[in-house]
Amino acid sequence: MRLVKRYFALLLGGSLAIVLAAGLLFAQVEQRSYAPATLGQLQQPPPAALTEDSVYQVSAYPLYPPELAEGEGRTETESFCSMCHSTRFITMQPPLPAATWEAEVTKMRKTLGAPIPDASAAVIIKYLQAHYTPDTRKQ
Ligand code: HEC
Repeated sequence: MRLVKRYFALLLGGSLAIVLAAGLLFAQVEQRSYAPATLGQLQQPPPAALTEDSVYQVSAYPLYPPELAEGEGRTETESFCSMCHSTRFITMQPPLPAATWEAEVTKMRKTLGAPIPDASAAVIIKYLQAHYTPDTRKQ
């Protein structure tokens, strides 16, 4: 009989301890004090402090159009030949024969639709032949 009593007392004590431990754990979870506290959280830096008088400026993207050779017809060439692309299309070519430049200007007008009047086209062709052929190209 004594043994049975002791057994029950142990059982009761054990159960009580388990319930107490579970209660304590639950209380901790409720308080969000369980460890590790930052599990699953993203640590982000605070946003940069901006003063009200901050000045932000975005200036023009620097473009360096290539300089065309000095000479008569340069203005026409610069204005008509930069409508669709940079004049770099001219300077990046190897020195081309005079006939090729004429064909090139004709291609831009007739095939690709460049609206260049005949008189200006003639001036441009002369200019290109005077500065961008194997004999005349300097730079
Ligand atoms: C209507 C728009 C337009 C105008 C204006 C224009 N081009 Fe072009 N140009 C193009 C196009 C599009 C190409 C690319 C063609 C290709 O890939 O076949 C090109 C390509 C070129 C090329 C590279 C070689 C080639 O044949 O593809 C040169 C050189 C050239 N152009 C010179 C000129 C000159 C010189 C002028 C002024 C007389 C001029 N372009 C005006 C549209 C134009």
